[in-house]
Amino acid sequence: MQKKFNYWLITVSGMLILMLAFTVNSFSQKPVKVFILAGQSNMQGHGEILKGAKGNLTWLVNNDKAGRYKHLVDNKGEWKIRDDVFIYYKKQENEVCSGGLTVGYGASANTIGPELQFGNVIGDYFDEKVLLIKTCWGGKSLAVDFLSPSAAGKSGYRHIPYAPKDTGYYYVQMLAIVNGVLDSISNYVPGYQGEGYEIAGFGWHQGWNDRINQKNTDTYESNMVHFIRDVRKDLGVPGLPFVIATTGMGGWEEKNLRALALMKAQLAVATYPDFKGNVAVVDTRDFWRKVEDSPADQIYHWNRNAESYFLIGDAMARMMIDLLKSGRPETEKFPVAGRRVSEYRGLAPTPPMGWNSWNAFGKDINEKIIQEIADEMVNSGMKAAGYKYLVLDDGWMAPKRDSKGELKGDSIKFPGDMKAVGDYIHSKGLKFGIYACRGYKTCQQLPGSYQHEQTDMSTFASWGVDYIKLDACFAEKNGRLSPVDLAIYREAINNTGRKMILSISDFGNGAWAWGGKKFAQLWRTSGDIYPSIGSVYNCANTSGGDGRIHPAFNGLWQFAGPGHWNDPDMLEVGNLRKRTEDKAHFSLWCILSAPLMAGNDLRKMSDTVRNILTAPEVIEINQDPRGHQGYKVFEKDGAEIYNKPLSDGTTAVLLLNKGKKKTDLTVKWKQIGLKGAQKVRDLWEQKDLGTFRGSFTARNLGQDELLLIRVGTRGRPPIPGPKPVPSEKYTIAKGKTTFLSDIYYVMKGGNAPVMNKNFNGKPLQINGTQFDKGLGCKSKSTVMYELDGLGDRFHAIAVMDDASKENETGRFRVLAGDAFGGTPIFDSGKKEKGTKEIKIDIDVKGLDFILLEFTGKEVFGNWVDAKVVAID
Ligand code: GAL
Repeated sequence: MQKKFNYWLITVSGMLILMLAFTVNSFSQKPVKVFILAGQSNMQGHGEILKGAKGNLTWLVNNDKAGRYKHLVDNKGEWKIRDDVFIYYKKQENEVCSGGLTVGYGASANTIGPELQFGNVIGDYFDEKVLLIKTCWGGKSLAVDFLSPSAAGKSGYRHIPYAPKDTGYYYVQMLAIVNGVLDSISNYVPGYQGEGYEIAGFGWHQGWNDRINQKNTDTYESNMVHFIRDVRKDLGVPGLPFVIATTGMGGWEEKNLRALALMKAQLAVATYPDFKGNVAVVDTRDFWRKVEDSPADQIYHWNRNAESYFLIGDAMARMMIDLLKSGRPETEKFPVAGRRVSEYRGLAPTPPMGWNSWNAFGKDINEKIIQEIADEMVNSGMKAAGYKYLVLDDGWMAPKRDSKGELKGDSIKFPGDMKAVGDYIHSKGLKFGIYACRGYKTCQQLPGSYQHEQTDMSTFASWGVDYIKLDACFAEKNGRLSPVDLAIYREAINNTGRKMILSISDFGNGAWAWGGKKFAQLWRTSGDIYPSIGSVYNCANTSGGDGRIHPAFNGLWQFAGPGHWNDPDMLEVGNLRKRTEDKAHFSLWCILSAPLMAGNDLRKMSDTVRNILTAPEVIEINQDPRGHQGYKVFEKDGAEIYNKPLSDGTTAVLLLNKGKKKTDLTVKWKQIGLKGAQKVRDLWEQKDLGTFRGSFTARNLGQDELLLIRVGTRGRPPIPGPKPVPSEKYTIAKGKTTFLSDIYYVMKGGNAPVMNKNFNGKPLQINGTQFDKGLGCKSKSTVMYELDGLGDRFHAIAVMDDASKENETGRFRVLAGDAFGGTPIFDSGKKEKGTKEIKIDIDVKGLDFILLEFTGKEVFGNWVDAKVVAID
């Protein structure tokens, strides 16, 4: 009965999300129609079901000569429960009612509100499933509690104690609840298959607490107009149909001047030019029933008369349908396709996108900054482009836990509590992220979560946190291997029952190899990024090159995929020196399927930077649902070509010149799994470049210049990616002796060792005897090898190389496991050049990994004949 959307007229960012939806579900069902019912106690609903002699719902059904109520009961006389209309209603902080629509969704289980007949009329009208989200609180006014940001005079925040200029607490709560429900819509719409949803209308019934106060009455019209505009903006649905039911209790005989003035104000709202055809007001005075026909004498609750509430809901629904049917084409009415998201299958099916405070502000964050950033994420178009996590990094905490041992926000920086911060973020349709540290203190010396794991994860869940960045400063003191540590957090998060992304921030400690994906959705591959292009390239090389792994892997691509991502650290886009650098940085992160956590001050963002961070076709590459991380297909003198095969049969190619010399760069189709003539599109310029046979050349690329292109035709079968390195190439063999130089290390820090030679390429020798196998190192050098529990003993001869400087010392250590929590199982102590070699023969039974570490100041050392013996 309703026309289907014309999807293709919708914005490009919307298309992105729709594409995602296409791949994860068949669209066999139409998007759920969502209606929000908001207001105060009369939206809660006090229409009695049983109580009273007359005017209760049971009485109405029993005296139903006109057959108006027959749809409410089945042939056994039981209240019907709809299986196509569902409701979510949060009555109290801890009391959520949800299920198929029926009686009892009023203020108490014994009452009804407007939702009952509203849902029945709407449900009969639509083929689609309908979800009603009821958010209302008794005794609340539009002048204070629901005061919307633009009416508050400033884009306000809720402080404790409350300041009169603040945005209403319940305005924030209302939107936070709506967004929360939509995020987990499958919990409330049985049989939901990821078909998405559409926020289709908003119903408002409220007014009593404004009509009992002259100032509130005087400002009502203007407050309501602000409210409607702000709600539409915050929900991202311009033109969202709004139906207001007036505060008509007392009926036509009502003489109270403020009551009349308030109704007049409500009726006037529909006459605003921008509300024509999308805001309607129901005059409810007809629905007033006298005390003698009602269950109670209670004017402010419509004498608790069920008929009144039934009729209010009925009229609101009919008005709503009129608005939906009227005039403008659907696409114009709901132009923001971003709201029609398909629900997550698992967290982070594509790399998370958001903003993190660290790169822009360090530890100097506060409530005002965070609130302004949240506003800017919406206003700047970042949210529409896909950025949704707003993460508070280190520096948010009070220096001490409270008397219950719980983390608290710093009371000067965050005078409201942290939950209020989260509520504000949620009210903008964004997600709330927070920083914690696995060590006993954070990198900024604030309380760490070591030995408070469950408490802290539960605290975060109670604040509505959606994303946890877990740092690793001081974690080496925990005495627990990283997988052991992380398993504790995973369980603690699971115990909370809240879906929270876990982001491992451990400076690139090998999470890809030791099973980060069992615990977390992303893990760092690098040390901290800095605002310089050199640092950006170094970080990129940890994920896309040999910065942290053996060159044979060609980067870490084989360890990433939907739900688990390599993280070369947060973005410095906007903090670099020039546009070419920002573009190079962003292009690399997109091709490497890196999480896109912006790190610039959005309040001061130039258009140039905004255009980079929101470039739709570039982000589309990063967010491609196939989740194949890009990999290098060419590299020479700072010129690099990466390829990222996409889900739709095309592939993205980045041709980047990091070098100083101007250069031409050619990608051959055979390097990227294609042949013949292929279409090429420039993703930054959003321009088709034509069809090219065999190859494509980017001409004259200066330093940091690039071309990011999409090659091929959409709709063709996906182009296969390269073959991953099989695990036998990087794990010791079962029951045999494995020379470490014969397999690939899975993590390295510092200088990569040279295989079977000393660092300078000379043969490995001890006292004139030459050895074929071993690792030649230059300090500092750390390598991690995978044993998979298969080994028994580690043998090697540790010896200082003659190339070392006189008087400088080197130190060899072997650690069981990873750098954090890995216990040393061998330590040579400091050794000078010329000191006697040390024979190592140590037990490594049951170990999954060992770490060989050679430290010192610019010294050389060799692990000669290094091998793991596995006894059959
Ligand atoms: C570092 C981390 C940074 C930032 C900082 C906060 O360890 O890598 O991203 O979180 O701590 O102190």
